[in-house]
Amino acid sequence: MKKICLFISALLFISILSFAQTTYQQDVKMNKFISDLMSKMTLDEKIGQLNLVTPGGAVTGSVVSSDVDNKIRNGQVGGLFGINGPDKIRQAQDIAVKNSRLHIPLFFGLDVIHGHRTIFPIPLGLSCSWDMPMIQNTAHIAATEAAADGLNWVYSPMVDIARDPRWGRIAEGAGEDPYLGSQIATAMVRGYQGNDLTANNTVMACVKHYALYGAAEAGRDYNTVDMSRIKMYQYYLPPYKAAVDAGVGSVMSSFNEVDGIPATGNKFLLTDVLRTQWGFKGFVVSDYTSLSEMINHGTGDLQTVSANALKAGLDMDMVAEGFLNTLKKSLQEGKVTQKQVDDACRRILEAKYKMGLFDDAYRHCDAQRASAAILTDSNRMASRMAAEHSFVLLKNSNNVLPLKKSGTIALVGPLADNQRNMLGTWNIRGEYSEDITVAQGIKNIAGNDVNVLYARGANISDDSMTIANTNTLGKEIDVDSRTPQQMIDEAVAAANKADVVVACLGEAADMTGEASSMSNISLQQSQENLLQALIATGKPVVVVLFNGRPMTLPWENKNATAMLDVWFPGTEAGNAIADVLFGNYNPSGKLSTSFPQNVGQIPIYYNHKNTGRPLHDGDGHKFKSDYLDVTNEPLYPFGYGLSYTSFSYSDPVLSKTTISGTEGLTATVTVTNTGNYDGEEVVQLYLHEKYASITPAVKQLKGFQKIFLKKGESKQVVFNINHSDLMFYNSDLKLVAEPGDFDVMTGGDSRDVKTASFTLK
Ligand code: BGC
Repeated sequence: MKKICLFISALLFISILSFAQTTYQQDVKMNKFISDLMSKMTLDEKIGQLNLVTPGGAVTGSVVSSDVDNKIRNGQVGGLFGINGPDKIRQAQDIAVKNSRLHIPLFFGLDVIHGHRTIFPIPLGLSCSWDMPMIQNTAHIAATEAAADGLNWVYSPMVDIARDPRWGRIAEGAGEDPYLGSQIATAMVRGYQGNDLTANNTVMACVKHYALYGAAEAGRDYNTVDMSRIKMYQYYLPPYKAAVDAGVGSVMSSFNEVDGIPATGNKFLLTDVLRTQWGFKGFVVSDYTSLSEMINHGTGDLQTVSANALKAGLDMDMVAEGFLNTLKKSLQEGKVTQKQVDDACRRILEAKYKMGLFDDAYRHCDAQRASAAILTDSNRMASRMAAEHSFVLLKNSNNVLPLKKSGTIALVGPLADNQRNMLGTWNIRGEYSEDITVAQGIKNIAGNDVNVLYARGANISDDSMTIANTNTLGKEIDVDSRTPQQMIDEAVAAANKADVVVACLGEAADMTGEASSMSNISLQQSQENLLQALIATGKPVVVVLFNGRPMTLPWENKNATAMLDVWFPGTEAGNAIADVLFGNYNPSGKLSTSFPQNVGQIPIYYNHKNTGRPLHDGDGHKFKSDYLDVTNEPLYPFGYGLSYTSFSYSDPVLSKTTISGTEGLTATVTVTNTGNYDGEEVVQLYLHEKYASITPAVKQLKGFQKIFLKKGESKQVVFNINHSDLMFYNSDLKLVAEPGDFDVMTGGDSRDVKTASFTLK
């Protein structure tokens, strides 16, 4: 036995050694290739590699670049973004590869955020599936489609932790938790990049927005961020680090400042943490004009901020052309060094080398493949499944759901027959004319078995400022020519004739996303009025809620019979919704962000601190950390989500109650499906250390498992609790585990848990 073990160890050692040797040899080959190339490059050509331009297309600010073709020809462009299609990309690549002096290929990027042509649920929705293989697969499909469409670089995953639902970009991330966020970051990087960046169906990922973009003051986009280092390391940085650990090829700096220095020129972030502490080997690109925006931040003119950014560790300038127009002068004036320019240029060329572009710059330019690989039936089916898994059942009184496939349904609301708003924010290549509305989905699933009475009932909003701002990029909110009362009357008449009302309410797609912050996150008044009238009919009302953020819904929660949160589900929206409404799929999504009761509670998140004066049940309120007019609880906590069935949990059983050194333990919990349907459940594990040198959170997610249980079935779920799970950042920013007492909490959400304890000696 001993001999066999020794033999296996020796084999393992030899294979690690040979892997290291191969990697080393590849690196030597790459370094030589790039050094040879760089020895031929002029300073202008090197600076040109640092320039990322868009010829128009998908823009989120002013377009600075002009005369793009000539710039490519002159070696003044390292990459392009905002275009797609194998033919267009081939044309641009031709200019670089055939007509520029050194024939250096370009890379081509795009915001492929939740699918490319086949659109998946918005990332916030996807995160509620807690299903890592599925999330990885959505990224893989997005990569396959993007690659078939000529692209080799995507600006995803967006991993900004967000505790403020006023911030519109909360829709683009994975919510409030660093553990869940890190798992998702890893899954997405793997999905996009696979394990071979030179394959023709993978793309380089770009983790963003580094860093802390989600902590904008007051939830206002692009606003100031100010945060302690402890909070940063403990709660906000882990998902970016997870992406780096997963091998992400590029990082995008963020628009906000950190410690008074814009992230795009912040050496602490771009060099000390990213490269020195985390060992990141790829390149850093700025966000859209975030380089020149440092002028507005007030840190210097274009030349100064460009020099500062290069010195801080920025390699590529998106759109601003600050590097292109000022670095040469800065070098002549001794404000930057040749080495700094060379290092940045080398990193860009390395990325191109790793993508195999020097071998074949046209790998993704096969027009035949594009038509075969994009928006296929199987991709649409994957989108439908992903959508179903992302829905969160918030309420289900009297088991009104699932609906029977019989009788009369009043299908009402501005989102009930609305193709324009099913895809959500960032769907550059998605085409809403191809997505399925709820009305269509119900027809597809229930056919003639149910009688559907449709009435629009309300506009998404009647507020002129909200309408004008939301419709900046297209008419997502269209205003009916009838009066609000006429629409409500029609909807009430339909409800009165029906057995059940399905009310499709919520936000327009671009009420979240970039530059879409809201100070009021309740339903728009127009829809509130409609819902009140529907509920007054006394008919059961099922709210199907479309949203890119947690909303404040205390009245709806009290008065609607059921609520199903469907986020923005993507291309197959209506089919997925109908599947769940009629019980073809039993919902299993769990919230990845807390829903506040009102805006005044924000920021509200489950992993908060205890404070010196916590409020406990049964305590009087005076001199406690609370409010006079609302409880401390969220409306729905992190991890929450119902099912058509029910689950019961045993107490967690620990393998040990005392551990020492780096020992670990297991926690075992038995989960039973006690209801009437088969279903999936996300079993969650939280830890809490009683006393530590840094005030601990009341609980922190440290594990989860998604399991399927047949009606009546029980399963034991075993969690490994490792030494690393007990660690946190101390005041020296060292990751440590401190001896003490720990609570292990298991349950189906962050509020409803059962506890056991152990001690670390
Ligand atoms: C956004 C990024 C995006 C970039 C390129 C910016 O406005 O903040 O998330 O990747 O534009 O489109």
